[in-house]
Amino acid sequence: MNFIAGDPILFSIPESFESKRLLIRAPLWGDGEKVNEAIKESIEELRPWMPWAQNIPTVEQSEAEIRRSRLKFLERTDLRLLLFSKESGQFVGSSGLHRINWSARAFEIGYWVRSSMAGQGYITEAVRAITYFAAGGLQANRVEIRCDSRNKRSAGVAERLSFKLEGILRCHTLGADGELRDTMVFAKARGSEF
Ligand SMILES: CC(C)(COP(=O)(O)OP(=O)(O)OC[C@H]1O[C@@H](n2cnc3c(N)ncnc32)[C@H](O)[C@@H]1OP(=O)(O)O)[C@@H](O)C(=O)NCCC(=O)NCCS
Repeated sequence: MNFIAGDPILFSIPESFESKRLLIRAPLWGDGEKVNEAIKESIEELRPWMPWAQNIPTVEQSEAEIRRSRLKFLERTDLRLLLFSKESGQFVGSSGLHRINWSARAFEIGYWVRSSMAGQGYITEAVRAITYFAAGGLQANRVEIRCDSRNKRSAGVAERLSFKLEGILRCHTLGADGELRDTMVFAKARGSEF
């Protein structure tokens, strides 16, 4: 079965695919330690933008989070994807397709990169490949990127890939820092955009 209709639990979704430099795959039991090491290294860069990164988690907490994300992947309720360097095997960062609306086939891409691997285009490469994966294999009609309007590096990823800025939701929600924030909404939609 490889159709994308009916009950999402029946969908055949590949657990991994590749881009030029990256292996992009579903989380596996045991990934928590590598992810924890990357969070520790990157906590200062993550904290302003990621509500879950206010404190460094323990290895056990990271492993539990990985296991929960694997279960969600299998349920098709949230498709987290981990990024690994094909050359070194090193964990590069985390991304995935979230807030899934299977009926409309609409997805939101999230991402973060470990600090030692920033500024090398890995996230742009991953988001390009994940968008392609969503548009093809998952028959996406819409792929969205949302970010705090103060988060220039995140908006840079969307802009580099020609996601269209559809609007700015003013005073939309609280940021990771607890301050009221505006949210930029970028998207690609089926048609000329993919
Ligand atoms: C948002 C975030 C992932 C962006 O990381 P990044 O390293 O800027 O993104 P990329 O990996 O795509 O790299 C792009 C940078 O590499 C450079 N680059 C080098 N080689 C490149 C290549 N082959 N392709 C594209 N860009 C390349 C680009 O010029 C750009 O640098 P610049 O912004 O100084 O011009 C990162 O800042 C982060 O993890 N922040 C914390 C978490 C977060 O905010 N997540 C998003 C929440 S909405």
